[in-house]
Amino acid sequence: MKILAIETSCDETSAAIISDGIVASNIISSQYIHNKYGGVVPEIASRSHLKAIAIVVQDALKLAKADIKDIDAIAVTTEPGLIGSLVVGSNFAKGLSIRHNLPVVPINHIEGHLFSGFINNSSLKFPFIALVVSGGHTILFEVNSFNSYEIIGQTIDDAAGEAFDKTAKLIGLDYPGGPLIDKYAKMGNPEKYKFPRPLINSNDFNFSFSGLKTSVRYFINKNFPNGVEENNFPDLCASVQEAIVDVLISKSINALKQKNLNQLVVAGGVSANSRLRGRLADISENQNIEVFIPEFQYCMDNAGMIGFIASKKIEEKGLSYYKNLTFTASPNVFKRKGMEKE
Ligand code: KG4
Ligand code: ZN
Repeated sequence: MKILAIETSCDETSAAIISDGIVASNIISSQYIHNKYGGVVPEIASRSHLKAIAIVVQDALKLAKADIKDIDAIAVTTEPGLIGSLVVGSNFAKGLSIRHNLPVVPINHIEGHLFSGFINNSSLKFPFIALVVSGGHTILFEVNSFNSYEIIGQTIDDAAGEAFDKTAKLIGLDYPGGPLIDKYAKMGNPEKYKFPRPLINSNDFNFSFSGLKTSVRYFINKNFPNGVEENNFPDLCASVQEAIVDVLISKSINALKQKNLNQLVVAGGVSANSRLRGRLADISENQNIEVFIPEFQYCMDNAGMIGFIASKKIEEKGLSYYKNLTFTASPNVFKRKGMEKE
């Protein structure tokens, strides 16, 4: 069974080939053009996807030594995301499907991240807690199977990646700020400045990061009224990063304890953060908790994770279920309380 997977929900154009449940190729073309605007410009994102999509799909086929004629099904991200971007991938998939008479499996992007811990990792078993943490989402899930999971907490305002990017902008760093905060923080003292850890002691699993951003803004206005000089970047970045990481870790551990589970999957772009990874490695060494973080290429937005969950859906429902299935792209955020809606 060979699946061609396509992901265009935000600013990465990606295609992958999944062969019998294994990711055989995973091509990701990132749109750096947004960096100079300080954030993703939706109209530019969709036009960039249009330019890249055919080449990225060709490259994925080539790397997997496959031909479109070998493909049994197409998987594509249809929600949530930027509507103009989603439409490019969805329509490309529909076009290929008509031309080559292939079924299309519509996939929710967050489900892709949620199960990415299984890619190249046979020791992860159900049930587990998953923290999906990216530029658009910060969600804690209790996961019992591929089609039974529940959102147990999520951000009530900004996502953690957004907190990284917005505070980086205040400090004077370019977009996307997360990787730059990570870089400078390695040289800084995380105890130097004390920023708030919003909702860290609340009894639920929800997050809130907009207050942290405001606090960083006031702090900079007061202490660095003429802008932050580069020699202050390390301590400031390390202190901001520590506040975000403290909250992510504390909520995840509380969820594991309360649900009596000992496996934690951390996925999404922010899981690339080296401090978060380091702290999670300490936890798995010192507590009875196994932590699973996908390889970097499966942490960021990628088609490999979309094809992987599609292969599980096909296993469950059969390929014929997806023949002539109608679907539309939808920008809606992931707000289902749990089960599959199919
Ligand atoms: O999953 P992703 O590639 O796209 C979304 O679906 O949002 O995540 C991108 C987010 C951005 O906010 C970026 O700043 C953040 O992940 N990010 C990081 C790091 N690498 C990416 N945040 C902190 N440290 C990093 N090393
Ligand atoms: Zn994502």
